[in-house]
Amino acid sequence: MSEHEFEVNGVRRTVSADPLRRLLDVLREDLALTGTKEGCGEGECGACTVMIDGEAVNSCLVPVCQVQGARVTTVEGAGLESVQEAFLEEGGAQCGICTPGLIVMTRAWLDTCEREGRVPDEAEARRALAGNLCRCTGYGKVIASALAAAAEGGER
Ligand code: FES
Ligand code: FES
Repeated sequence: MSEHEFEVNGVRRTVSADPLRRLLDVLREDLALTGTKEGCGEGECGACTVMIDGEAVNSCLVPVCQVQGARVTTVEGAGLESVQEAFLEEGGAQCGICTPGLIVMTRAWLDTCEREGRVPDEAEARRALAGNLCRCTGYGKVIASALAAAAEGGER
């Protein structure tokens, strides 16, 4: 066990945990942030996506020791509300297991588009969300949701 200090959704947190404990488990079990979901547990599905220092990552593959001093953003974090609303309005969620990961990945994608001056169009959305698997929606409404969020100007 050792102490790990990092920021989660703008709040500094200190967690006592095995350094190799998965960030996914620390978030869900130690910090009660259960919005982040586990799908495959092997880095294949994207359900567990969070942002670390603004980059989307699979939290099932990240040991907590690697986020020391970092800024972690989960689906509960500020700045994701407009994307959440877009998924709600466009019906981008069915069973919901993939949805938090898709919302975080959409936020990361819109931030990247803004940073790099790229237009967030459908081809871009499909590329950006390709690593987030969904068994329910057939992706049509997921992409429509991401584009609706983009049309809102990707507002934070
Ligand atoms: S649960 Fe992490 S990628 Fe599937
Ligand atoms: S809504 Fe069920 S897996 Fe995506």
